[in-house]
Amino acid sequence: MTQAARVTLSRFLIEQQREGGNLPPQLRLLIEVVARACKAISHTVNKGELGGVLGSLGSENVQGEVQKKLDVISNDILLEANEWGGNLAALASEEMEAIHLIPHRYPKGEYLLVYDPIDGSSNIDVNLSVGTIFSVLAAPEDASQRVVTEQDFLQPGFRQVAAGYAIYGPQTSLVLTFGQGVFGFTLDREVGSWVLTRRNIMIPSGNREFAVNMSNQRHWAPPVRRYIEDCIAGRDGPRGVDFNMRWTGSMVADIERVLTRGGIFLYPWDDREPDRAGKLRLMYEANPIGMIIEQAGGMAIDGRDRILDIAPVGLHQRVAVILGAADEVEVARRYFSMPSV
Ligand code: AHG
Ligand code: MN
Ligand code: MN
Repeated sequence: MTQAARVTLSRFLIEQQREGGNLPPQLRLLIEVVARACKAISHTVNKGELGGVLGSLGSENVQGEVQKKLDVISNDILLEANEWGGNLAALASEEMEAIHLIPHRYPKGEYLLVYDPIDGSSNIDVNLSVGTIFSVLAAPEDASQRVVTEQDFLQPGFRQVAAGYAIYGPQTSLVLTFGQGVFGFTLDREVGSWVLTRRNIMIPSGNREFAVNMSNQRHWAPPVRRYIEDCIAGRDGPRGVDFNMRWTGSMVADIERVLTRGGIFLYPWDDREPDRAGKLRLMYEANPIGMIIEQAGGMAIDGRDRILDIAPVGLHQRVAVILGAADEVEVARRYFSMPSV
């Protein structure tokens, strides 16, 4: 790609704002800030041992998970980048129990940001891809006159105004949607800018590849167990075709693969903690990824129902997740209404 042919993220966003006005100016600025923070996180991830960023802190987050140094560093990078910009009324993160209000000394904006600063934390120390996931919601209209509460964040996923993720892998890339298709950018490190490399990403259909943590198989509910059994049975089974399996341990990396070559991703409910709907978090994992998947022509369900229709009851609520190419997710969904399973 020649320099002249390059469309940077800034140019792309300004053009989106002008054409059809489908991107409000403050939302454009917010996405610029988040993308800049992801660039900073990418540099931090890349330093690895040299930057002293590997390993755990000895603390736990609200979900009782051990916090890695990079979870906290990346959380702070996003917090500091977004606090003063005037685009947000409040923000929330996997690594913070309560919502974070914009301090009085800064102006408040029209949006709420929810994020997973490092997705795939268990992969940090072993030099595999990790990422950042984010979701943008509209703040209540009277947000500038009152204190924003957790309740204001509890909007169903279909109300998201933008969603995206960055992935810190062999390439650093950013995938974005604000409800008008999905666009991919690659970080040019020498120039320091995000360059548009994929327009209107659509999930290819027909790729027989599933992503699921197979070590949990014995704990799944019968519909999921049956669906995966039938995939594994391959061409000799009811599906009549061989499947391949991939599981990276970083949802962003598995989703990047689904967007690029198709297939299905599952993190289903299991009986180890029966009262827990799933492992992944609705507000900052399933909803933003669900919006991206749907915008790319795919489907995102919790088994029977659309994830983006779920009315959230808590910031850190969990949900079962089945998403990917629409044809394959539809097959998986049918297992939930089969009387025999
Ligand atoms: P996080 O690092 O933000 O806690 O998220 C990890 C998630 C997700 O990225 C991944 O698909 C899944 O947890 C991995 O779970 P297993 O450890 O069960 O493989
Ligand atoms: Mn995560
Ligand atoms: Mn995380």
